Amino acid sequence: MLITRKELDFDFKGARFNLDDSSDRELLGWVLNQFLYGEVTGIQCGYWLYRAPSINAAIFLARQAEEELSHVKRILRIQSILGQKPAEPHRAIRFMATGMMGGTWGEHVAMEMAIGEGLVLSVFYALAQTIPDEKIGKILEFTLLDEERHVEFGEAETKAWLKRHPEDKSLLLSSALLQLLAMKRIKEVLMRKMQGAKREEWEVREHHPVLSQMDDFYDHVVWSFEQRIIRLGILDRPLSEVSFFQKAQILIKHPFLSLKAKWKGKFDQKLLTETYLQDEVVIRESQRVALEPVSREA
Ligand SMILES: [Fe+2]
Ligand SMILES: [Fe+2]
Repeated sequence: MLITRKELDFDFKGARFNLDDSSDRELLGWVLNQFLYGEVTGIQCGYWLYRAPSINAAIFLARQAEEELSHVKRILRIQSILGQKPAEPHRAIRFMATGMMGGTWGEHVAMEMAIGEGLVLSVFYALAQTIPDEKIGKILEFTLLDEERHVEFGEAETKAWLKRHPEDKSLLLSSALLQLLAMKRIKEVLMRKMQGAKREEWEVREHHPVLSQMDDFYDHVVWSFEQRIIRLGILDRPLSEVSFFQKAQILIKHPFLSLKAKWKGKFDQKLLTETYLQDEVVIRESQRVALEPVSREA
């Protein structure tokens, strides 16, 4: 990955949730409901499988669909261990996971896989570190391995896409800024939830071993988000060096660029059924069969 686990992992300094405390379990249940929705959006793999630009991408997406849907069951398993029930996600999550669904392959691999699943990874690492339950820890670690591969694939495909379509950088940057605004909204909702758990805000911030580190954790997530878009080649300098006016200019252009990309994705992209004879897998495999003796596996 462009950002390693070591870089992504925020150090909670041994702090853990208290699973005997019902308000801690409720808060975790709420967080898991956001992930549950995210995992169900794995059905989008079907949409992109139909539009996959290569046989290798199609193979990856077919496997990813199976993995994301198995993650749905894993999240439900964690919820049942915590005694929590599945429920609706917050609308900011719907917006990030469904409302921002890309129009082109480039948007999909950058926004949903490299950046979106990169954010998921940051929170999964945090949960693996702070939930003191062996079974939950194992489920999270298994799931993390799948998500790390999804992010790696998204990063490699984004770099390849930007090499072929450098003009798409502005659209990806505006989408990334929108994601950042949505993240800020989710953090505010989470902070309100903490108060809703019948605790005074100061008390939570001062005394809860994990939640008192929420501001620093959020800053770390934003830092890794920024690093990822820089390393992907979408942003050429730290966000702190982009003025408010420049950010506004980038965001104003977003609806137009997004519409253009949707148009491009709909009418410009050829399906594999039209291109497969030029696909590297077809060419390589056809040569291999010609040169090697026939075996049962082939
Ligand atoms: Fe997943
Ligand atoms: Fe994933």
